[in-house]
Amino acid sequence: MRMEEGVRRWVVDISKWDPQPPDFSFALSFLPSDHHSSVTRFVKLEDRKRALISRMLQYALVFDVLRIPLSEISIKRTPEGKPYVDYDKLGLGLPNFNFNVSHHGDYVAIASEPVCLVGLDIVSYDIPRGETITEFIHFFASYFSSLEWDNIVNAGTSYDVLIEFYRYWSLKEAYIKAIGSGLTEELHRVEFSHTCWTNITAKVDGTPMTEWRFFLFELGERHCVSSLQFWME
Ligand code: COA
Ligand code: MG
Repeated sequence: MRMEEGVRRWVVDISKWDPQPPDFSFALSFLPSDHHSSVTRFVKLEDRKRALISRMLQYALVFDVLRIPLSEISIKRTPEGKPYVDYDKLGLGLPNFNFNVSHHGDYVAIASEPVCLVGLDIVSYDIPRGETITEFIHFFASYFSSLEWDNIVNAGTSYDVLIEFYRYWSLKEAYIKAIGSGLTEELHRVEFSHTCWTNITAKVDGTPMTEWRFFLFELGERHCVSSLQFWME
């Protein structure tokens, strides 16, 4: 197996797409009808766009990697909500084909891997409204270790503090998405450290996560994306 087989990293900037209702309906028609309500249940167009592009990316990626005809692709969800492709012919080439999606702000992204487990999370650097940055981040303080919290609150200006907070949050979310639990209660179990944002390490329940790799990238100036990989024995 070539390492790049089954590896994909795709991102869509939905702010560039301003569909009229017929255009949106046309795009929606490409999805199986049982997925339509998961898009149309949203009231705001921005939420609908993210939900639609998320599902279109999942189908497009599965088609691109596995070459299953679109009409035969079955994407299901674990009881915790993590999507996966229901396909029994992955074989030796892609022994653990898996993918993860994230959407926030202007971006929807998807990542897939043939062997390691992947988790992905996008965060938009939204400025809190009606409260200060300090008030906003303190609401989430219990999810962070004292080391993480020190790095956040000592990051610099209040905007630097907010960005540091969002980057840590994105890494933590990518962790619970990689393991598929989706439980915010698990966020405090993982502690991230970094000498710079291209050299990230972590511990879970105090144990170094040596089988994991951590990546954090900026998407433009107002978003970041975290991608975590777990290389199981
Ligand atoms: N594990 C992994 N991936 C999951 C999942 C799970 N248990 N449940 C859903 N997903 C995938 C889905 O593909 C979903 O997109 P889709 O519904 O369009 O297919 C996608 O993850 C959503 O991820 P994201 O866009 O990053 O949303 P989120 O960060 O709000 O949600 C979850 C992440 C899925 C883990 C969510 O269940 C959760 O608990 N979020 C906590 C949110 C929160 O407290 N945010 C505060 C921010 S300041
Ligand atoms: Mg998220």
